[in-house]
Amino acid sequence: MTMRSKLMVGNWKMNGSLVANASLVNAILDDIATVNCRAAVCVPAVFLAQLQALLAGSCIGLGAQDVSAHASGAYTGEVSADMLRDFAVRYCIVGHSERRQYHAESDALVAIKAQRALAAGITPIVCVGESLAERDAGQTEHVVKRQLAAVIHANGHCISEIVVAYEPLWAIGTGLTATPEQAQQVHAVLRAQLQAASSHADLISILYGGSMNAANAAELLAQPDVDGGLIGGAALKAPDFLSMLKTASR
Ligand code: PGA
Repeated sequence: MTMRSKLMVGNWKMNGSLVANASLVNAILDDIATVNCRAAVCVPAVFLAQLQALLAGSCIGLGAQDVSAHASGAYTGEVSADMLRDFAVRYCIVGHSERRQYHAESDALVAIKAQRALAAGITPIVCVGESLAERDAGQTEHVVKRQLAAVIHANGHCISEIVVAYEPLWAIGTGLTATPEQAQQVHAVLRAQLQAASSHADLISILYGGSMNAANAAELLAQPDVDGGLIGGAALKAPDFLSMLKTASR
């Protein structure tokens, strides 16, 4: 028996406005009564204060999309883990493929970011995933294990406090979802790697991400090692996100 309740996280990416955020969140909260899974939204940093107020007292946790690898000081444009903590941020995505790709984030940098989040009492959602070329070359397992190994190495026994998100690059924003079998296969690999590093690995949530939507969430979430979802596009529509939260609540 697993002790992991599902965790559904919206990744808003670089979307939203003060007006749009309020209407999205209010529509979600209007119908949240039957939801009993864990839930969070990861929003652009400039909206953290707004979302802290909108989500206050609700069951939806607040999350950020990135954090600086530095504690404080002369790092123009960066946001520190302690600053996130000031806004009651509970989760922070680290190593999203869009940051690895467009901002040249290395495995080592992602590991330090996870460390910064953990030190501030924030749960890092560590993203791993292979490109289509890597999958076609049979390197999926090698790539995701290398990405996760860096985080395990840098974080020692704290590793049981992280959340992992498996997001195959070819499934992100493409409408091409991994099959439940493909997702489970990689999640099982990641679980085994976590088990080798921590006696509490069974408590670590491993989320699937990549074109998860209201239609395919149930079969993905039915897999034994799929503990929830990291949801981009479908998290921007209140009915879709709500539907997925309800699916995860069963
Ligand atoms: P998507 O994005 O659901 O729009 O594919 C997921 C993600 O990148 O976190």
